[in-house]
Amino acid sequence: MRSDADQYLDHEDYPEELNVEEFNQISPKVLEGFPRGSFPLSLFRFRKKLNCLTPLYMAGDPVTPKDMEWYVHLANKGRLFFSRNDQEIYVRCAAGDLEAALDDPNLTPEDLAGLFVREIAKRQTAFYDNTIAKELDHLAEAVDMLSVYVGVDFDNADLLVSVAHRNRDRDRQRVNAGVVALAIYVHLNRDRVIIENLSTVAMGCFLYDIGMSRVSKLMTDKSGQLSTAERRKLREHPHRGCEMLKRLGIEDEEILEACAQHHERLDGTGYPMQLKGKEIGLYGRILAVADSYCAMVTDRPHSPRRNAVDAAVELLKMSKAYDKRICKALVEYLQGIPG
Ligand SMILES: [Fe+2]
Repeated sequence: MRSDADQYLDHEDYPEELNVEEFNQISPKVLEGFPRGSFPLSLFRFRKKLNCLTPLYMAGDPVTPKDMEWYVHLANKGRLFFSRNDQEIYVRCAAGDLEAALDDPNLTPEDLAGLFVREIAKRQTAFYDNTIAKELDHLAEAVDMLSVYVGVDFDNADLLVSVAHRNRDRDRQRVNAGVVALAIYVHLNRDRVIIENLSTVAMGCFLYDIGMSRVSKLMTDKSGQLSTAERRKLREHPHRGCEMLKRLGIEDEEILEACAQHHERLDGTGYPMQLKGKEIGLYGRILAVADSYCAMVTDRPHSPRRNAVDAAVELLKMSKAYDKRICKALVEYLQGIPG
């Protein structure tokens, strides 16, 4: 016996004369992740007898549980559509179930890159604002799906960086640094990336600066020199970040190293431990480059943002402090991607 899902995949009622340029068939799984109570896009139903699409639901109208049942039934039969003019809204709705979004043929790899960057930025901010296990799990769920997206095609890491570079506002710096760090990691290890490990590495990329969630914004926004006490507090953030993560049960070396060492420098001028050379691990070195790079290319009140390749080249010249191989990978990487 065929399941509803099989019928969806077969598209057996899909009329050849239907203008697929204008409408897309809705994935039942993505539909189930739509916001409850009301949808931000209109729906159309394929009428088999009339062999045409007719309006079914108007964006913004209420959706009762019974309506939802009916829409899911139609979607399972492959008879529920949305206008391609609403593609952007559909992509946003797909964030409700990222696993389903990955399988949705309506979403291009670029749509997914935008979806992941936005969704991870949202969940990362929620965790920074409230460092509890529930928010961490919510972020981890999105990072797991992101790792699948990158793992099936490493070129998707390029798309993530391209999308991240479109918004260089300060509130995006955190997620952008994570995306750049992940892309560097994939670029450096292209032939030997262990897919199972990718999710843990990615978590390190999005959690490394969590200690900053305990540093007052007044202090980080301060335009003048920091006092000695303020500087000491700021320099504690890698250590505090590790403590916070350990309290939440995180013991992975990749994550803790990224958090503890992202301000260490090869010549021993970094903090908090003034580690030198080989004392700094791969994840610490990658995050040091990604964090500094993203600070340079982000809009700031007192320093205009730098051009992406110029910033990376400048880091490459600072080979006493930053790992040359990693900076070189970043320069090559940025030269190869649009934006
Ligand atoms: Fe930091």
